[in-house]
Amino acid sequence: MPDFLRIYAKQDYLTPGAAHTVELIAETVDPDENTVLLDLAAGKGEAAATLAGRFACRVIAVDGYDPFIHIAAAKFWFYNLRDLASVLRADGRQIPVRSDSIDASYCIGGPSIVGLEPALGELVRVTKPGGHVIVSDVVWREKPGPLGPEWDWMAKAQQISADEYAATLTAAGLTVERTHIHPRSDWEDYQAPMLEVAREAKTAQPADPFFAEDVESQVDLERRALDQFLDYATFITRKP
Ligand SMILES: C[S@@+](CC[C@H](N)C(=O)[O-])C[C@H]1O[C@@H](n2cnc3c(N)ncnc32)[C@H](O)[C@@H]1O
Repeated sequence: MPDFLRIYAKQDYLTPGAAHTVELIAETVDPDENTVLLDLAAGKGEAAATLAGRFACRVIAVDGYDPFIHIAAAKFWFYNLRDLASVLRADGRQIPVRSDSIDASYCIGGPSIVGLEPALGELVRVTKPGGHVIVSDVVWREKPGPLGPEWDWMAKAQQISADEYAATLTAAGLTVERTHIHPRSDWEDYQAPMLEVAREAKTAQPADPFFAEDVESQVDLERRALDQFLDYATFITRKP
């Protein structure tokens, strides 16, 4: 498994456009101190801390990766948010939360990583009728057809357009209210701290050129894919 902790060492959000998705969540849900949110695949807990800190709402963050869970827990403690934000270690395909108990739920950059249909099924299950479900994910602007091994993880990824993604959300029982396609600059902002980590790995003593090369080649791969066929989208939906 890649060393995610090291690759993402210089960034709090692990998803292109995550800060913008959080703004979309804030303006759509307009949470207050009576609101309970669920953050699936919460990573380092940045979205949960931002929303709890700004709106005094409660946020249940769920992730399956211990190092990020520890960072999220420490962040909630550091910002004095422990009464509002908590983190659970759990599989996003089986969230340990009662059905219809959450005012609004979101998953930033995670549904296709957790497993698209199971993740959506769980978000729909835990959210109260009438509540929003907001997700962001990679979508395909063009479908290139079968890709060779030089495309690494993209060769195995499901090629799904924004319209097909919206249809999957509808099939999961959600009403799609809005689709936002993120600008290319959101990807550049996401990749810049990783390239900084790679630069440091090359000049550190001892240097780690293999790690640096891995990171740079992943970013290069993403850039080629963005030129040709990839996009990132946030979908705002509601459970009827
Ligand atoms: C791209 S990151 C997104 C993190 C965060 N939402 C953000 O935007 O900063 C994907 C996250 O999904 C988590 N994850 C992957 N599979 C999971 C699963 N089956 N259950 C729970 N979390 C999972 C990873 O640990 C990682 O933190």
